[in-house]
Amino acid sequence: MFDPKKFIAEKTKELKGQVKGKAIIAVSGGVDSTTAAVLTHKAIGDNLVSIMVDTGFMRKNEAKSTLEMLKGMGLNFSVVDASEDYFKDLKGIIEPEHKRHIIGEKFIRVFEKVARAQKCKYLVQGTIAPDWIESGGQLRDTIKSHHNVGGLPKDMHLTLVEPLRDLYKDEVRKVARQLGLSVAEKQPFPGPGLAIRIMGEATRERAEIVREACFIVEEEFEKAAKAGKMEIPWQYFAVLLPVKSVGVHGDVRVYGETVVVRAVESIDGMSAAYSKIPHEILDKISIRITNTMKDKVNRVVFDITNKPPGTIEWE
Ligand code: XMP
Repeated sequence: MFDPKKFIAEKTKELKGQVKGKAIIAVSGGVDSTTAAVLTHKAIGDNLVSIMVDTGFMRKNEAKSTLEMLKGMGLNFSVVDASEDYFKDLKGIIEPEHKRHIIGEKFIRVFEKVARAQKCKYLVQGTIAPDWIESGGQLRDTIKSHHNVGGLPKDMHLTLVEPLRDLYKDEVRKVARQLGLSVAEKQPFPGPGLAIRIMGEATRERAEIVREACFIVEEEFEKAAKAGKMEIPWQYFAVLLPVKSVGVHGDVRVYGETVVVRAVESIDGMSAAYSKIPHEILDKISIRITNTMKDKVNRVVFDITNKPPGTIEWE
């Protein structure tokens, strides 16, 4: 039986011995990185420099709410806007693994710059067990290089520290709860962010579409769950397809984008079943997405694939 209190006590002690000097962590606002940051801060205090890299692929309001929370807990935290650079580097890139590697590598470069300026020697990451298992860390094929693992360049000048490496998602949530973090119940969010929810080229304009669609999916599901109309799924979001189709608004022909609604039930993300969402709620989401982005999106579909064979994210 996993004991979060014991884990925190042991890990804090271990981190104190392991990290001799300043360390840097990038917080995405998700459960893993936030937990890793707060846990490490507990061990090394102000020696931890925490930053959020705004890649242009963050969720709506993520930067603001993370800033308020972590500053409130006494962490030395700031947001670095690198979005312009990301969009430039991802121009014309379509292949998912290529995208992941560019994003991962860029991330480390931004880190290194801040780390050098702040004289940090360590890089703390919120890698959890499924991240490295699925990145080919064991005797298995690489399914996808998870951002925390696959994108690390070979010439990295920082020593890697991964305090949550042996934990599964449900265990990380227990640790987060024990630390009193409100993000404990937050759904997982991938390291490369919305970029891997944009099939095809990840441009700023397409990022805006998927960000708004994800926001609508999240808000509608959370509202419906609060009203007792459904259970909140384990993970729920939107994906933007590289496929346009013909539709009609009023009596005007619209050649628009297609958004996928994805919702799954899972325990640790290793396998998943698609959520059986009431049609009434899907209806609301479809209408809201197509109304909010009238001139851009004219079709919404629901993904009914389990994992396996589909993965939870589309890339
Ligand atoms: P897949 O898509 O592999 O996702 O079925 C399993 C879980 O992992 C999340 N995910 C990631 N998390 N870095 C992360 O920290 C990543 O690169 C990454 N890719 C996928 C995904 O959202 C799901 O919860």
